Amino acid sequence: MTKGKVDALLGIVFGDEGKGKVVDVFTPRYDVVARFAGGPNAGHTIIFEGKKFVLRSIPSGIFDEGKLNIIGNGCVIAPDLFMAEAMELEQAGYNLKERLHISKRAHLILPTHRVLDRAYEAAKGKNKVGTTGKGIGPTYSEKASRTGLRVGDILDNFPQKYEQLKNRHLQILSDLHFTDFDITEEEQRWLQGVEYMRQYPLTDTEIEINKALAEGKNVLAEGAQGTMLDIDHGTYPFVSSSNTISGGVCTGLGIAPNRIGEIFGIFKAYSTRVGAGPFPVELFDETGDKIREIGHEYGAVTGRNRRCGWLDLVALKYAIMVNGVTQLIMMKSDVLDSFDTIRVCVAYEKDGVRVTDMPYDTEGWNAVYEDLPGWKTDLTGLTEECQFPQPLKDYITYIEKETETPITIVSVGPDRAQTIARSK
Ligand code: IMP
Repeated sequence: MTKGKVDALLGIVFGDEGKGKVVDVFTPRYDVVARFAGGPNAGHTIIFEGKKFVLRSIPSGIFDEGKLNIIGNGCVIAPDLFMAEAMELEQAGYNLKERLHISKRAHLILPTHRVLDRAYEAAKGKNKVGTTGKGIGPTYSEKASRTGLRVGDILDNFPQKYEQLKNRHLQILSDLHFTDFDITEEEQRWLQGVEYMRQYPLTDTEIEINKALAEGKNVLAEGAQGTMLDIDHGTYPFVSSSNTISGGVCTGLGIAPNRIGEIFGIFKAYSTRVGAGPFPVELFDETGDKIREIGHEYGAVTGRNRRCGWLDLVALKYAIMVNGVTQLIMMKSDVLDSFDTIRVCVAYEKDGVRVTDMPYDTEGWNAVYEDLPGWKTDLTGLTEECQFPQPLKDYITYIEKETETPITIVSVGPDRAQTIARSK
């Protein structure tokens, strides 16, 4: 029997690679689009038929009629935020209830998880992670400590289970002397969200996906966050709380490793990071401000300034290794159009020690750069690879050689048409 494959589309540095646009180009090739990790900490901006949407928990295949979208078991979901996100799409005319299935095994983010997120951050003092405040860490912690509530719980005796867990949280908050909050309104919306979620197929999505694969259907696993925010392989403890790498596709959807096909790794032609944590390539000067300004580098979920810097090959190579990336996609190349020189971080250095492999602790390392000539050309009007200026071709070749991975798509602007496929 012909069998389908699961391809993964992953942000492979610190997230925010502008994946939304690529997903939009990719989704027509797939029958199923599935999210496997994370939750409303993500913010995927998608422009569809001239309208802008920010998807947080809902997969990007939602705009295509006839495509099945799945929120997998590896995800965490906040019913109130899900309701707001889904209703906006419904109001825009998309019939979600036919296209979106939610795993009964995905974990629920309670309003008190969000308060706990704030309380734990406050308790960390100077070592704050700079979370999105969406309750991600407390929810995944509770999943691991086997005290969480899952989507399937809303189908049976839910009020009692909810009260029990909420009271446990309130006790923890009281023990932490974190009592200055009022969740009354938020809780009301959250409970409405729970009711709203009942209208969706809450299913055993791992069985659905495996049946689809057995029928020869193809699945796109849509990543969230990035490899350097992975709970195991990121810059711990300044990370998110799920496995954002390709390994997370298997656990977060319930599919076997031999079902994985291509792994597309998305990165920007430069680097950004939101939140706290080591970032050796960070630029604190005008160049960093210029990249932020031209690249509109402000967080989609929190609106925070993103920290900006040059491309980090140490991080990129590490990400390619742990994900098994088979093809690279370079986004936002046009942001570098006006720079005379383009720098690339090729190593980290600390106390006279130079490393080219990602160190265990990325704190305190300085970036070592190589300089390449800028292309000083407006890329935004280009439509084909043969029009690329030579310095851009050289930049691409340099990255491909260093990473031993082909760059098969280069993005030169926000529009779908500004996505240029290269010959492999
Ligand atoms: P949390 O996922 O809200 O717990 O946040 C943990 C860290 O991951 C913080 O530094 C966040 O800024 C970062 N983070 C979480 N989600 C995203 C994302 O979608 N893009 C970029 N950074 C993110």
